[in-house]
Amino acid sequence: MSASAPVAKYLKDYRPAPFLIDRVDLEFDILDSHTSVRARMVVKRNPKADASDTLQLDGSAELVAVRLDGEALAPSAWTLADEVLTLPGVPESFILDIETRLEPAANTSLMGLYASNGNLYTQCEPEGFRKITYYLDRPDVMAKFSTTLIADRQRFPVLLSNGNKVGEGLTENRKRHWVKWVDPYRKPAYLFAVVAGKLSVLRDHYTTRGGRKVTLEIYVAPADMDKTAHAMSSLKKSMQWDEQVFGLEYDLDTYMIVAVGDFNMGAMENKGLNIFNTKFVLANRETATDFDFEGVEAVIAHEYFHNWTGNRVTCRDWFQLSLKEGLTVFRDQEFSADMQSRAVKRIEDARGLRALQFPEDAGPTAHPVRPESYIEMNNFYTLTVYEKGAEVVRMIHTLVGAAGFRQGMDLYFRRHDGQAVTCEDFVAAMADANHIDLTQFKRWYSQAGTPVLDVSLDWFAEGGAASLTVRQHCPDTPGQTDKLPFHIPLAVGLLAADGSELPVTLASDDAPGPLTRVLSVTEAEQTFTFVGLNEKPLPSLLRNFSAPVRLNYAYRDEELAFLCAHDSDAFNRWEAGQTLATRELLRLYRGEGEATLSACLIDAFAQLLDHADSDPAFAALALTLPAEVELLELQDHADPARLCQVREQARAELAQALAERWDAAWRRHSGLAFRHEDAGRRALKNLALSYLALLPGGDAGALASQQYQQADNMTDRMGALAALADSHSHARDTLFADFAQRFADEALVMDKWFTLQAGSRRQDVLRTVTALMEHPAFALTNPNKVRALIGAFGRNLAAFHAADGSGYRFMADQVLAIDAINPQVASRLVSCFNRRSRVEPARAELMRVELARVLAHDGLSRDVYEIVSKNLN
Ligand code: PHE
Ligand code: ZN
Repeated sequence: MSASAPVAKYLKDYRPAPFLIDRVDLEFDILDSHTSVRARMVVKRNPKADASDTLQLDGSAELVAVRLDGEALAPSAWTLADEVLTLPGVPESFILDIETRLEPAANTSLMGLYASNGNLYTQCEPEGFRKITYYLDRPDVMAKFSTTLIADRQRFPVLLSNGNKVGEGLTENRKRHWVKWVDPYRKPAYLFAVVAGKLSVLRDHYTTRGGRKVTLEIYVAPADMDKTAHAMSSLKKSMQWDEQVFGLEYDLDTYMIVAVGDFNMGAMENKGLNIFNTKFVLANRETATDFDFEGVEAVIAHEYFHNWTGNRVTCRDWFQLSLKEGLTVFRDQEFSADMQSRAVKRIEDARGLRALQFPEDAGPTAHPVRPESYIEMNNFYTLTVYEKGAEVVRMIHTLVGAAGFRQGMDLYFRRHDGQAVTCEDFVAAMADANHIDLTQFKRWYSQAGTPVLDVSLDWFAEGGAASLTVRQHCPDTPGQTDKLPFHIPLAVGLLAADGSELPVTLASDDAPGPLTRVLSVTEAEQTFTFVGLNEKPLPSLLRNFSAPVRLNYAYRDEELAFLCAHDSDAFNRWEAGQTLATRELLRLYRGEGEATLSACLIDAFAQLLDHADSDPAFAALALTLPAEVELLELQDHADPARLCQVREQARAELAQALAERWDAAWRRHSGLAFRHEDAGRRALKNLALSYLALLPGGDAGALASQQYQQADNMTDRMGALAALADSHSHARDTLFADFAQRFADEALVMDKWFTLQAGSRRQDVLRTVTALMEHPAFALTNPNKVRALIGAFGRNLAAFHAADGSGYRFMADQVLAIDAINPQVASRLVSCFNRRSRVEPARAELMRVELARVLAHDGLSRDVYEIVSKNLN
């Protein structure tokens, strides 16, 4: 981007659109060489905007013709510059015809209309519709759409768009056919979709509570039909759950899901026609792990839930993205919690937030849940908008309770169905329905950064009282300093010395309080006094991770071990173990004290393992050490290689100290016939195997080979492979080769094979990754492949941060190569440089050099420019 630096858009500049579009009738003429698109729009002035007779439409497609009220416009009657078509002197209302010419086969960005495997697909969120035609491509312009698709019958037997199919037929020579779709609901252009191609369909039905019979369809490549059953059952469960929990029913006669192998994100909630990355549709026991099954269920649910939170009520502008995403992620998290173990789900979500969103919130691209500016909107589909956004919604849920939350949702839909609204509108509905003041709470939407709570407890034996002092502060983030206090729901419990729970009673209570109490923390410093206590309690803080904050409390190691064994809050049992482990790892890293793990930690793990079978899924999480990325965040001037080495050493010690227990656990949960509900047992077994693989002179190679050969499911096969991924053994080579041969035709399975090798601890990773880029199953144009191989390399801290800078150089080269193909994918990749300020100066300098090289590159996309320029600031 040498010539002119891209410019940012600002929330404060929001103005209503000067014109509205009432209707759009689209015709896609799909030809071998190209696709012609004719759009007829009914346009009128927006009475709520400042009067203007200049219409400006967004667009970047090849423009063939413009007609206004049927009259062809001469090229002098319009101008086209910087992807804006300007028509001066237009009437109050008129009909505009636009014809464009698209080349989907040449579109590698996977935005707008593109080809994948000979079929055609669209992706319009956030600003892809402008690649199809010229339009008011903003979410507050909501129109009624009809779509006619015309194509060759042989090549494109399936022709889909949003809404209901209202007609179909053959063209004169009978070689081509057409299908017409009408969507009765107004929608913004980002929810538009078409699909054309050769696809097989799994069909089923669902009758809504209100009696609407809905046809459910899942379209996939013919070879993948044996991997669609789980998606279908997930869809039905989602439809039922939304009726039961939120009283929300589906509103069209057909619900279609289409799976495509080339897709930038996870999935897309286009009205009545979701388009999914194959990764989140296809699953069967042989090809998908338990984790994949969970992912499919969650993403199917997420997109389904968008029909109300996103489509019926949409966003006024893209700064409000979390209005639909934070809320919908919260809804899919709750759904998953109801489908499996609530505690385990909460731990997984909190762990993900801390490992990935906290670093984002502490880095150069930190932004509020409702951002204030962006250069490229695609860069704002972030963990902050999605996952922290979901935490913000969850905090409201915690503050008002489940019933209050439901009332808030009901009011939100009563007020805003069919509208494009803001995060403020959502919070207002919650506040009004519950008669509470959420003014201060709204700072969660506008202030970036992860708040830190420093908590201490004073014990007053004479009065039987304990006072909890809570101090909060939030670190500065780019463009934001001196933040104001947040409104934080802090869930607290108190434990007695025998492990029992004490009521949390405040002086103002006239009866003993609850065992878990949600305190409203609103000040920079605040004290809460608990009374009626016969002994000094041990506080259990931030139960169930009641707020997305970091919490410090000076527990002694023994107290953490005690909480790990006794806390009634499963999240905090897990948390106590993690805190203990983190302390130990950082102590070893800094070279303080003994160079071995403390007995306290080993005992705590031994106890967890002894009780593991009562909840193996929980145990598997609790017995996993904190991730390297989490440790990196806690250390200034970190040496990533050493962090990795210390964690591996700790794992090896735990392997040895508990060797018999790991072996017994592996055996107890091995050799079972497959049942989905044994996912927790498989997780524990595979964790045990990964520890056993670290025993010097152990027989992990044999155990893993045995598990691999006998596996009747992908989780066990992958578990065996993963256990050997870091080794140089013969068993490893044999299993990896067998796997590649067995699954050569399964794209999603090959992704796993790439990822395991890119994440390996072996010294030769970079060489392996470079060689794998030549593998026939790899393609730089396919986002899943890039993420599986190159993305995984970027997450491999030891390899990416190699002291000689080879990892950085490789990554910068790939970013530039991919940027020319697909800027969105490139910009996600380049984000692995974002924690530059965390690492020691020599590496940080090597990173800077590579970033500067990327930034200087001619023709760099806005996407990558935005991330890199923030990083170098
Ligand atoms: N809106 C999609 C979702 O979260 C994500 C997405 C964004 C997909 C942009 C494609 C492009 O469900
Ligand atoms: Zn979403």
